[in-house]
Amino acid sequence: MTDRSFLKSFAGLIAALVALTVILFIVAQTVGGKSTKAVEATVDAKAVAERIKPVGELTVGAVEAVKATTAAASVMDAIIPSANAAGADDKGKKIYDATCVACHAAGVAGAPKLGDKANWAARIAQGADKLHTHAIKGFQGKAGMMPPKGGNMSAKDEDIKAAVDYMVSQSK
Ligand code: HEC
Repeated sequence: MTDRSFLKSFAGLIAALVALTVILFIVAQTVGGKSTKAVEATVDAKAVAERIKPVGELTVGAVEAVKATTAAASVMDAIIPSANAAGADDKGKKIYDATCVACHAAGVAGAPKLGDKANWAARIAQGADKLHTHAIKGFQGKAGMMPPKGGNMSAKDEDIKAAVDYMVSQSK
């Protein structure tokens, strides 16, 4: 074997080994999927950042806090609908539509009509407490007879109050 032919076959062997290395590397990448080393590194970096972070953090600007409060409030509203005015109004409207509408929509038997500001003005002037009591306990006035809870005795006092508040809000 001459030096020249030896060099040729040796170069060929090296080339083949390099090619094999590349192929094996690619195969390993494909089979191994995401290198676990990389994942570990990310986890480590997070853990380290967690460990070395300062004890306290200064939040500059109240905007974030306000946003958080607003978000919390709307979550509370969603959970407890009666906690906000709109929710209470909704409940009041429901009760009104179910019970009170029978007399108060058309003014049956002397009932003050919903939205009749002139009729409601003096009644509203008595104060909410009195109106609530009259609606819950019933009330005999000059115009007619308001039955206790509008005749819906299964309704809760709170519901009747909400209905009164709704009627008042629609009539002033
Ligand atoms: C059967 C008919 C009738 C129904 C049903 C009815 N009402 Fe009345 N309501 C009246 C009449 C009549 C009056 C007026 C009494 C008067 O001033 O002489 C009245 C008056 C009122 C007043 C004014 C009280 C005041 O002090 O001036 C409120 C508040 C009221 N009703 C709330 C309600 C609510 C809330 C409901 C439903 C839960 C309801 N009513 C259902 C007949 C009714």
